[in-house]
Amino acid sequence: MVSIPKTIWPAALLFLCWTGGSAGAENHCGADTQEYEFFWRGQFAGFVVKGSFLFDAADVPANGIVREENLLKLDVSFYAPNGTLLRTYEDNHKNPTDDEGKPYLNFAFDVHAEEIFQDGTWNVDDNELKYRNGFMMGEGKPSQRKENGSQEGLAFWSRPSDDKTPHLHVDDWNNQEGVGQYEFPIGFSSHEDASFHYQTTTQRIATGKVGEAYYQENNGTVVVNKLASDLDAFGQPLRVRASYDHAMECMKALSSGGASAPAMALSLGLLWMISFYNAFL
Ligand SMILES: *[C@@H]1O[C@H](CO)[C@@H](O)[C@H](O)[C@H]1NC(C)=O
Ligand SMILES: *[C@@H]1O[C@H](CO)[C@@H](O)[C@H](O)[C@H]1NC(C)=O
Ligand SMILES: *[C@@H]1O[C@H](CO)[C@@H](O)[C@H](O)[C@H]1NC(C)=O
Repeated sequence: MVSIPKTIWPAALLFLCWTGGSAGAENHCGADTQEYEFFWRGQFAGFVVKGSFLFDAADVPANGIVREENLLKLDVSFYAPNGTLLRTYEDNHKNPTDDEGKPYLNFAFDVHAEEIFQDGTWNVDDNELKYRNGFMMGEGKPSQRKENGSQEGLAFWSRPSDDKTPHLHVDDWNNQEGVGQYEFPIGFSSHEDASFHYQTTTQRIATGKVGEAYYQENNGTVVVNKLASDLDAFGQPLRVRASYDHAMECMKALSSGGASAPAMALSLGLLWMISFYNAFL
């Protein structure tokens, strides 16, 4: 008589949990996970930033504001004005980190208003005056932006201080020579690109800070205009929407019972075989 040792049971159960568990981790379809996508295009050069973030409804604080420490995931990608993907920061809520091991990401999302707070200063967290919250994605410290060679990488961040009109920037941090890794010309002030969602392009030209590669006047005549926006347009705010892909993925996962169907069938088959052998043979 063939008897399957009882020790196989834990192994089979482990296999079942592992196949079910790994499928869940891959598609992030936990108990009540919610995924959003975000998109932005710069006002002067036309850089594009897009990404997505994920959190569990159970981790949403009582005030409805999800911050970086409440996230399960946040990926952010930077595109050149011509559409070339420059770089993606995966799991930006975890890395990269500063000298003290703290992730650079600062982020606040209101689950009721479905908005990423963007009018405020990049490093401000304020649970009462919500408009004061800003964000910082990618890497580096905007406070060190004038120290050429002190940091590298790409950053997407909101206004530098509370006394500035709300706006967003893309920076490719300067090296020792005062240029970024990708050597793009300046879009606005010291930044590769920016957007002022409450100001028109013409209003920003009047400050004299729009980069010469994108706009130049000579004695009242426009001689260069390669701007990414109409002169009368406002800059774009960061847009957010619920992820369609995530919803589809989770519906599929749900219909196959949370694990991939073949792995599930294999595990159940294995369990049935073992119990059959032990019970009747
Ligand atoms: C787009 O811009 C990137 C970065 O400057 C450059 O490397 C690439 O060659 C450009 N691609 C095209 C098709 O012009
Ligand atoms: C850093 O680089 C920028 C751009 O090249 C330059 O305008 C600025 O003067 C430099 N800053 C210092 C402190 O050298
Ligand atoms: C600018 O325009 C004015 C009148 O339109 C003209 O007198 C002047 O010479 C021009 N200056 C230059 C540098 O072209």
